[in-house]
Amino acid sequence: MILLLGSVLTACGPGEAAGPVNFAGDARHGAELIGQYGCGGCHDIPGIAGADGNVGPPLHRIGTRTYIAGFVRNSPENMAFWIRDPQKVLPGNAMPSMGIPQNDARDITAYLYTLK
Ligand code: HEC
Repeated sequence: MILLLGSVLTACGPGEAAGPVNFAGDARHGAELIGQYGCGGCHDIPGIAGADGNVGPPLHRIGTRTYIAGFVRNSPENMAFWIRDPQKVLPGNAMPSMGIPQNDARDITAYLYTLK
């Protein structure tokens, strides 16, 4: 497993404002996180090595899908919330809440939104 802490901690150099929370996200980091969190064990995800699971739906073109889990509107906010806590969004569905922090969920969302 690759340790990413170094790059995360040095991302904000001196004089760089953290800025408002937005959903710009780092798609490349998101792709690495998708590998680390093992999303591919359950999902077929384009561009992620070994992500060929078939427990949940394939995430092909998820960036342009109208609904998440056929339930909530697909927006960056809703997607990040889904990734953080799918059991809160749709209690009882088969995707576990994995305790993913907001920043990681944002970067994962950024990657998923590249899938069109
Ligand atoms: C244990 C299996 C499992 C894991 C691990 C898992 N998921 Fe899921 N996921 C599911 C299932 C099952 C659904 C379908 C839920 C539903 O429709 O009610 C789902 C749904 C989704 C959806 C909505 C798909 C759609 O077609 O609307 C997204 C996006 C998603 N997962 C992303 C992720 C990401 C990103 C990760 C890793 C952080 C992940 N999942 C980890 C099982 C999993």
